[in-house]
Amino acid sequence: MWKKFNIFQLAIFKNFRKHYQPKVVKIQERTFTIRQLDIGDIKSLLDLQRKVYQGETPWMRSAFLAELYSRYSHLYLGVLFEEQVIAFMGVRVFLTDGHITNIAVSPDFQGMGIGSLLLEESEKFAHSLDCATMSLEVRRSNQDAQRLYRRLGYVSRKVLPNYYDEDQEDAIDMVKYL
Ligand SMILES: CC(C)(COP(=O)(O)OP(=O)(O)OC[C@H]1O[C@@H](n2cnc3c(N)ncnc32)[C@H](O)[C@@H]1OP(=O)(O)O)[C@@H](O)C(=O)NCCC(=O)NCCS
Repeated sequence: MWKKFNIFQLAIFKNFRKHYQPKVVKIQERTFTIRQLDIGDIKSLLDLQRKVYQGETPWMRSAFLAELYSRYSHLYLGVLFEEQVIAFMGVRVFLTDGHITNIAVSPDFQGMGIGSLLLEESEKFAHSLDCATMSLEVRRSNQDAQRLYRRLGYVSRKVLPNYYDEDQEDAIDMVKYL
């Protein structure tokens, strides 16, 4: 019990120290900036979700707010092209697991390696906090995302029946051992 408590405290403590240094990357002759997201980005994130999910916003403003202010160690990154957020990803650390809470790339920018890049950044963050695993949930029907996760080393752990409230679709719980 003491050991767990220590790890928990450490995770919180590290949260106050970790800052992501913005990065500039060039992909297919286009220049992108990767930087940490903050509350001022939430409107852009809602707009981005509408593009990705045919007008829907699976995460509302309140969900982003809760995550950005979470007391767990977390990293929310946005990828910007010409000052517009075109992709984002969130990872939250609990004990020794880095959990990908959300990832989305604007349809115009999918298949360029941006999702892979964000997942790599999430792993570096989790690794720096001594995580042993990465985990995520993905819709059973989302074969494209599952293929990407497998390519990056994730394996299926279990099926979570009726996981999504909106339509009761099952989720696949995936894990990667770091
Ligand atoms: C799933 C998602 C986040 C992946 O992001 P992405 O930027 O398209 O991912 P990547 O480009 O890194 O990889 C996707 C494919 O492009 C290929 N690719 C990677 N780099 C590439 C490049 N430079 N040029 C062309 N293709 C590339 C990859 O090989 C991969 O192919 P695969 O599916 O056969 O493995 C994105 O498609 C998305 O937002 N989907 C809708 C929302 C969603 O499903 N989110 C996940 C919820 S769990």
